[in-house]
Amino acid sequence: MDNRPIGIFDSGVGGLTVFKEIRTLLPNENLIYFGDTARVPYGNKSPVAVQKYSLEIAKFLEMQNVKMIIIACNTASALALSSLRNEVRIPIIGVIEPGVRAAIKSAHNNNIAVIGTKATISSGAYQNRIKRLRSSINVIAVPCPLFVPIVEENLMDTKIALDAMEMYLSDLKKTDIKSLILACTHYPLLKNQISKFFDNNINLVDSAYETAKEVKETLEARRISTEQETPGKESFFVSDSPETFSNIAANFLNRPIDGKCIFHPWAEI
Ligand code: DGL
Repeated sequence: MDNRPIGIFDSGVGGLTVFKEIRTLLPNENLIYFGDTARVPYGNKSPVAVQKYSLEIAKFLEMQNVKMIIIACNTASALALSSLRNEVRIPIIGVIEPGVRAAIKSAHNNNIAVIGTKATISSGAYQNRIKRLRSSINVIAVPCPLFVPIVEENLMDTKIALDAMEMYLSDLKKTDIKSLILACTHYPLLKNQISKFFDNNINLVDSAYETAKEVKETLEARRISTEQETPGKESFFVSDSPETFSNIAANFLNRPIDGKCIFHPWAEI
């Protein structure tokens, strides 16, 4: 039994989709979230930059005495998970493996589609992982960079979102795809709209939920769950304005953030 907090990090606010699922499955765990709001977005940055940022955050979380680190960001999971595992001694979970496993389980035919940021898609991380687990599967991967600002601006139910879906997903709709991985923190907030775009005839794999399940299983397997019987504490750190983060965070969590949001500029780390 281990009452230390779980550390969760993302390039910004989007990782709260993962935070929310973890909170639902593990109500008594203490959680620390780091949103790198000063350097967001990661989705169009180089692997070297994302690896450097991710390592700085992982070291910061280690200093907060976390028992495990969750990389909630798909881009950071794609580009930095393996390098972080060499640098950090506590367990680290990314969002790719859980999403891929769920997609393979639910694939009704030999086709799986993946949508994510430019950096996630061009890294090939999802495509390679799927192929390694089931080489017969045909993977179609499409970057959808405008979906992130659409979600952050709360434009999910507008023509702008529909036009972006037409632009990115029309070709995919013409294929025989039945399983689509939402490989970006922000995309679960577009779930209903994407499902409707595919005439509700597609299985959307939400990496956030799948990752939360993996966190629970890992805590149990390693016997490091909390023994607290009261709701876990929550703290939030951001590298830019806490006010801006707190305002957008409410959309992601469907509630105001509970606990303090602390400004943590990089110069102080
Ligand atoms: N968190 C990023 C991801 O899941 C999306 C936002 C960004 O580009 O930083 O890929």
